[in-house]
Amino acid sequence: MDQPKRYTVTAALPYANGPIHIGHLAGCYLPSDIYVRYLRLKGRDVKFLCGSDEHGVAITIKARKEGKTPQQVVDHFHGMMRDALRGFGISFDHYSRTSSPLHKEIATEFFLKIYEKGGFEEKETEQYYDPEAGQFLADRYIVGECPNCHYDHAYGDQCERCGTSLSPTDLINPRSTLSGAKPELRTTKNWFLPLDKLSPRIREYVESHKGDWKSNVYGQCKSWLDAGDGLQPRSMTRDLDWGVPVPLDGAEGKVLYVWFDAPLGYITSTRELLPDSWETWWKDKDTKLVHFIGKDNIVFHCIIFPAILMEHGEYILPDQVPANEFLNLEGEKISTSRNWAVWLHEYLEEFPGKEDVLRYALCASAPETKDNDFTWKDFQARNNNELVAILGNFYNRVMVLIQKYYNGQVPTPGDLLDEDQKVLKGLKDASERIGGSLENYKFRESLFELMNLARTGNKYLADSEPWKVVKTDPKRAETILFVGLQVAGALAKLSEPFLPFTAQKMQEDLHLQGGWDIPADGKLIIDGKLDAPGLLFEKIEDQEIEAQLNKLEETKKMNTPVSNIPPAKAEVQFDDFMKMDIRIAKVLEAEVVPKTDKLLKLKVDTGIDQRTIVSGIAEHYSPEEMIGKQVSVLVNLAPRKIRGIESQGMILMAEDSEGALHLVHTDKGDTQPGSQVG
Ligand code: 2FM
Ligand code: ZN
Repeated sequence: MDQPKRYTVTAALPYANGPIHIGHLAGCYLPSDIYVRYLRLKGRDVKFLCGSDEHGVAITIKARKEGKTPQQVVDHFHGMMRDALRGFGISFDHYSRTSSPLHKEIATEFFLKIYEKGGFEEKETEQYYDPEAGQFLADRYIVGECPNCHYDHAYGDQCERCGTSLSPTDLINPRSTLSGAKPELRTTKNWFLPLDKLSPRIREYVESHKGDWKSNVYGQCKSWLDAGDGLQPRSMTRDLDWGVPVPLDGAEGKVLYVWFDAPLGYITSTRELLPDSWETWWKDKDTKLVHFIGKDNIVFHCIIFPAILMEHGEYILPDQVPANEFLNLEGEKISTSRNWAVWLHEYLEEFPGKEDVLRYALCASAPETKDNDFTWKDFQARNNNELVAILGNFYNRVMVLIQKYYNGQVPTPGDLLDEDQKVLKGLKDASERIGGSLENYKFRESLFELMNLARTGNKYLADSEPWKVVKTDPKRAETILFVGLQVAGALAKLSEPFLPFTAQKMQEDLHLQGGWDIPADGKLIIDGKLDAPGLLFEKIEDQEIEAQLNKLEETKKMNTPVSNIPPAKAEVQFDDFMKMDIRIAKVLEAEVVPKTDKLLKLKVDTGIDQRTIVSGIAEHYSPEEMIGKQVSVLVNLAPRKIRGIESQGMILMAEDSEGALHLVHTDKGDTQPGSQVG
């Protein structure tokens, strides 16, 4: 498209089931923010939209784990994610959420419009159902043995050990994670988007972006389109109780598929921001729609969402979908469940005022074309050797010398030599190179060009040595510092998309307006008084980096089983567990079994009866200690004779890694005997 009239730019809606980490920031929030800031500086008409993705199974699983309602989970993380992104200067025009009433209305309207046009296929399929929990099971709620590697805990959609993608019916011995029950196949009705029938139009759309979309994006789409059995119909509804209800009779207990509703969240966000003019941003052909995402979202944004928009019929289609690959941390995959991450909210607390340093480090090694690794050493080197030593050093030298020689007054140049002209003329070229790379979504390249400008400034000062020249030829020194100041001015403007906090400080010192334009003669600041500069960047010391590495080391320890703790035993079925009858009991009498060191003979009140139990705890508890204690007893264990005494049950004990035994009892200490444990 030629230069569009306006840009609708979105960044993937993050799931509100956990905090945001550097992988999210590097993946789509930082590049989209850099892009949007640049467009704004160029004076283009742009809206930048995002929000929290609050539906889907990821949320219900988190809620179950934490014993909370899904709404409580999303309320918590919505605020946390919004604040963390804001803390890093991600400059959304609006940050919405998909649990908002307007979103429900929009998603419902969209579904009905497509439904009424006959755009869905109604199909009955067999799905796993948990008879104990009384509900159909989403793929992630079913585990079983992987048919490929025989891992016993593969999910219904994927085996996390061997990576094979699965469907629930592939699993050997499937079980429900809700109740442990063996799921049954039951028939259920859902509404499918016929991607197979839409395939020619989708192909035409995707192929029209050949050479225009990044090769990782285009390649992934092509492999979906060209797969042996082509695109398959995909259900746009789910048997689940959390989400936007399917607005049809006979669809009780069903909600819209999260990947139907989530991208519509971009529209919700726009409508909340611009209730009267939002349609221009979604329906006018002169609007360029750009979705920034991570690579795991490619198919949804390049195939499924465009298909939904096509079926609806009134909307423009995504024009660009810049997707980054993944960022690893210290050589390992970032993992929320293993806490292997740098969390944005923690960074903001631990490195206050250094938001731009992380922005810089993540952009400089962004996973643009392949997965990349974030290391704390690299972060330190990026700060100390680049931000401090190149950009900060140049800026500070120019500003301090101008304070020293001219009391902060903008120097007046004399005759400009060739080398001065060259530097001044180079400023506009630099702005075009930096901008050109940004227009092409090459953020690393663009940042490198920005730093090259600072390098040019440093070299110019080092070659022309104004601090020496000032003693012999003061006018020449003034000219050099005038030229140096123009470079500082250009840096103050052009660094804004990447380093917005630093750019603001520089622009304030220089009394300079933001904006991308640089005059052809490079003269940006010709008179006035400048403020004394503060330091733009500070060195990051080794101990700060070590503290972060230690934190990760601790995480690693937590994730590594201690060697003398025995590994988990083979899994049991829920039913097997329920066979055990464990009760709280009170010890009435206790004595050491004659001629033994280890055994105590106990008389306990189980609430059901009074009985005798022989227990091997004499080395850890004396008879006196035991009397009156509450214990847990497995009461339906078959009786057996120990040293001639019939033991009628087993006292539950915890054995630590040193072999010491600890009684298992309730925290209240006065639980009624006979209370069931389970
Ligand atoms: O992968 C994810 O985190 C999804 N929540 C992204 C959704 S993007 C859009 F469609 F909303
Ligand atoms: Zn496997």
